[in-house]
Amino acid sequence: MGYIKSAALEEKGFVVLDSYNQALDPKEWLDIEYNDWKSSGDTRFAPLASAFGDIECNGFWNHKPPRTDKDGVWIDSQVAKAPNLTRRAQEPGANVGRCRVIELQPTPYGDCLYNLHQDDNNRLNPDGTGWVVRGFFNLTDDKDSFFVLRENRTDPAGEVRIALPAGAQLIIDTQRLWHAATHVGTEPRYNLITSWTSGPELDAYIEKYNGTDQVENVEVPQDVLEAGYAEQARKDAARAAYYAAKGQQVKQAMSEA
Ligand SMILES: [Fe+2]
Repeated sequence: MGYIKSAALEEKGFVVLDSYNQALDPKEWLDIEYNDWKSSGDTRFAPLASAFGDIECNGFWNHKPPRTDKDGVWIDSQVAKAPNLTRRAQEPGANVGRCRVIELQPTPYGDCLYNLHQDDNNRLNPDGTGWVVRGFFNLTDDKDSFFVLRENRTDPAGEVRIALPAGAQLIIDTQRLWHAATHVGTEPRYNLITSWTSGPELDAYIEKYNGTDQVENVEVPQDVLEAGYAEQARKDAARAAYYAAKGQQVKQAMSEA
């Protein structure tokens, strides 16, 4: 039967929406509560919706009873502190699973490539229902930072680099595309991540905000790109050696985050 997916994401696996006027909203991400959650890179997360409305970030399938990343429960104390973020996550009217703000410390391009991962968005998702994708709303004005998307983790051919100024709005099939952020600067980057179920509501939202996959790649000097490839290879080799010493295979399991 297959999953219900957005035609807008079919070719490239992502769309960029019209920019949001972030400067008009208060910095709610500084008021909400964060917890430590292991993800790719140096991160913390502040959930707005979770499996049972608690301030935790675990995959819904790790709870009892295990379920897919749909029907997230809004966390009253967080929603009260972040009404604008909540409104924006709910605006499409699509089912919301997990919803959280990520805080990412500065991450050079080579570390970003090492962090490239796919999300485990559709575990236990019943065939014939909507495919879970993710929205990314950049909150801080990270003018020199960018999201990296690849179809193949170690092949730079076709790499997409999307700029992350305040108000940037992306929707990405993060189970299909390898992804991570390069974050330039000295302060952390904040981004609202929402798991949405694909379907007519999400399609209408993409259309309303002119979702497109025709975006300019952020320009990065060739020497920086090549240094990044080398750093990814070096870190991958170090990780492989670490696991080999323990007699284990490197796990390239899909990330939670
Ligand atoms: Fe991810």
